[in-house]
Amino acid sequence: MADLTPEEHKERFEKIYLRNQAPAMKSVERCAFGCDYGATSWANRDEADELIKLLELAPGKRLLDVGAGSGWPGLYMAQTSGCDIALVDVPLSGLRIAAERAIEDNLPGECWVAAADGAYLPFAGDCFDAISHSDVLCCLIEKRAVLESCRRVIRPGGRMVFSVIYVESGLSSDEYRRAVAAGPPFVETDTRYPVLLAETGWNVIAERDVTAEFASMIQRQLDVDREQRDGMESVMGATDYTDRQSSYESKFKAVSDRILRRSLFLTAPA
Ligand SMILES: C[S@@+](CC[C@H](N)C(=O)[O-])C[C@H]1O[C@@H](n2cnc3c(N)ncnc32)[C@H](O)[C@@H]1O
Repeated sequence: MADLTPEEHKERFEKIYLRNQAPAMKSVERCAFGCDYGATSWANRDEADELIKLLELAPGKRLLDVGAGSGWPGLYMAQTSGCDIALVDVPLSGLRIAAERAIEDNLPGECWVAAADGAYLPFAGDCFDAISHSDVLCCLIEKRAVLESCRRVIRPGGRMVFSVIYVESGLSSDEYRRAVAAGPPFVETDTRYPVLLAETGWNVIAERDVTAEFASMIQRQLDVDREQRDGMESVMGATDYTDRQSSYESKFKAVSDRILRRSLFLTAPA
């Protein structure tokens, strides 16, 4: 992905969350992912259902979704499980859409929406039973600070689950460049995630390699985009449609070659 500053990425997400509310884009999302919240991660509905189980969400539990976008998957998890939910992200457009959706859906539990940096969560310590973030750490530079901030707000006995896309280790410099170019904006890390988690006070209960599922999701997205090309072009224009196809094609190749990988981590405070 082209080199952009965090501020430029925020502006890019601001536009994408608005654009993803167009009926044609929602139709694509429903076919590819089984949801229509305006998702920008690679978490599909099956994965969101798995997150609910892993976090043992239920009425009365309090979930924090960091990098919540326009409400996926946090609002779905709250709607399905009956838990309370706090959504945090930086782009306001997504949070406004999420707040409206929470009202429209008449969520069974409480819902709070906050514009905040995940590295500086505006909550008291030990106040969440569960934390979730989907492909968020690979979209920001301050990975360590976000994990530390999550650690501060999780209560003892709580759980954090997250997906993240990362570059395979031990690659040649050409493969490394190709993986980074095909990955999300801040896919590079100095420290591997299991080490970073240990250093920020988290125990890894389980890490599941979901690279194969990731490749299938990209293929599915490419197919649905082709089937619904006319509708998509009417929203995003022909150039952006073509750019999206070629970006997903390079991503699919990198993921199929396993130089770009995705994992789901289930963790608990150490
Ligand atoms: C791949 S998107 C996932 C969004 C949403 N959860 C979904 O599944 O569609 C990554 C999100 O991380 C957010 N993000 C990036 N930097 C952040 C930060 N410092 N604090 C909180 N969120 C951040 C982005 O704004 C973006 O909405």
